[in-house]
Amino acid sequence: MADSPQALTNTLPERPSWRPGDRRTDRASMLRVDQAGEYGATRIYAGQLAVLRGSSPAAHLVTHMASQEERHLARFNQLMAERRVRPTLLQPLWHVGGFAMGAVTALISESAAMACTDAVETEIDKHYAEQLEHLGEEDPELAADIRQFQAEELEHRDIAREAGALDAPAYPVLTAAIRGICKVAIGLSKKV
Ligand SMILES: [Fe+2]
Ligand SMILES: [Fe+2]
Repeated sequence: MADSPQALTNTLPERPSWRPGDRRTDRASMLRVDQAGEYGATRIYAGQLAVLRGSSPAAHLVTHMASQEERHLARFNQLMAERRVRPTLLQPLWHVGGFAMGAVTALISESAAMACTDAVETEIDKHYAEQLEHLGEEDPELAADIRQFQAEELEHRDIAREAGALDAPAYPVLTAAIRGICKVAIGLSKKV
């Protein structure tokens, strides 16, 4: 049977992520926003750990995830130093805002703290996926790190869901609000 036009289209090679004439990716901006995001993540978890009982299962999970965020942050700090990229000027805002978001969600409940991770990691996964698409073959060193961190962020999202994120009060509203904040923070950290 002859292939339909649709089937033929489906077999065409995918459009390369960069073609002559396209704008090159701004990798300084990429590193800046990624470092800001990982910094924010460490601050969110610091805020949660300030509130959660140290012996609680939630605190145990958060401690594990926070140690991975520290590693992500250290790697982006290193890449920024090597490549002479300045950090975002908004770091003080993420210092306070991240901590506050973590503390407030943990004060609501342990499931709300988990919903915070669920929401944040959902946005970060999308963000890293977009970056990988833009990078294409351009910067294998950076792409390998982003790919590994993206996988770990997805693990965090799944840990949070298994630990009761979906039981959080007003889960849809809470996660939509946090995702909105993440989108704004990502947009700002790319530019400033
Ligand atoms: Fe991370
Ligand atoms: Fe994470």
